[in-house]
Amino acid sequence: MGEFDGKVAFITGAARGQGRAHAVMLAEGGADIIGLDLCDQVSTVDYPMSTVEDLDETVKLVEKTGRRMIAEVGDVRKRDSVESIFRQGLAEFGRIDFVIANAGIMPIWGEHSDTPQAWTDCLDIMLTGVLNTVEVTWPTLVEQGDGGSIVIVSSMASVQPIMRTLGGRTLGGLAYGAAKAGVVNLMENYASVLAPHYVRVNSVHPSGVRTPMITNDMVRARFDEANPEDLKALVNAIPVDLLEVDDVSNAVQWLCSDKSRFYTGSQMRIDAGAALR
Ligand SMILES: NC(=O)c1ccc[n+]([C@@H]2O[C@H](COP(=O)([O-])OP(=O)(O)OC[C@H]3O[C@@H](n4cnc5c(N)ncnc54)[C@H](O)[C@@H]3O)[C@@H](O)[C@H]2O)c1
Repeated sequence: MGEFDGKVAFITGAARGQGRAHAVMLAEGGADIIGLDLCDQVSTVDYPMSTVEDLDETVKLVEKTGRRMIAEVGDVRKRDSVESIFRQGLAEFGRIDFVIANAGIMPIWGEHSDTPQAWTDCLDIMLTGVLNTVEVTWPTLVEQGDGGSIVIVSSMASVQPIMRTLGGRTLGGLAYGAAKAGVVNLMENYASVLAPHYVRVNSVHPSGVRTPMITNDMVRARFDEANPEDLKALVNAIPVDLLEVDDVSNAVQWLCSDKSRFYTGSQMRIDAGAALR
């Protein structure tokens, strides 16, 4: 028996990277998955975003574990879009247990990063998008009456500044940090009001993770050109450049399991000690 047999997880940004890894790891534990992803480019993002083929690949990997996945193209910025995909999954699987608000963009460097639109895109996707994801899903978790776990993917960018010089400052960078900090307050308020219903809400705060958000030409160019002072903001204490997706999925798995049944309202750093530097 898997620890998540009979459970269902709703994951945003499921096409690739961490969202895909969470889908596969929870499915390996026995959960069915409802996933959505934009599968399109956001104009202020200067690295390639995911595609429909990426989302199809996540479905294949989930199905390989023996579990099922309902996957649709959707946009967390639009409440209707999140609602319609969630309802479709609910109709198929009949319940929901875990919500992983993971979708994100990182227009913190590159050509369009210092524009008002980069600020708006970050807040729309990573603050309002998280709000939409939780607002659409919490009533069902409460109605079911047997608890649940909501995990909000924040970042070390909410814990400490990711820029140290004026040359490292962009509106996209400021917005990325503001959105990731803003969701901590959302997380605490939702954790507070949902606690009587045994619905737990926590945030995870990774430092750099090896996904296409990081392993791209925009980031490589930045590391070649940046003021070394700004790069110091990105150093881990344990001497690894990047975490792997499973390092974050392992935390998500624990946060969804009964092993964390009284863990709520917490910010979990998965940062190889970056906050110590
Ligand atoms: N990779 C890192 O170093 C790192 C570190 C800390 C936190 N994070 C956060 O982790 C989360 C996952 O990022 P990742 O590293 O897997 O990157 P990724 O780019 O591989 O995956 C992010 C996914 O979110 C999707 N997405 C973006 N906007 C969307 C929207 N409006 N609606 C639906 N889906 C949308 C993208 O299409 C993409 O598939 C993000 O919230 C990111 O900010 C990443």
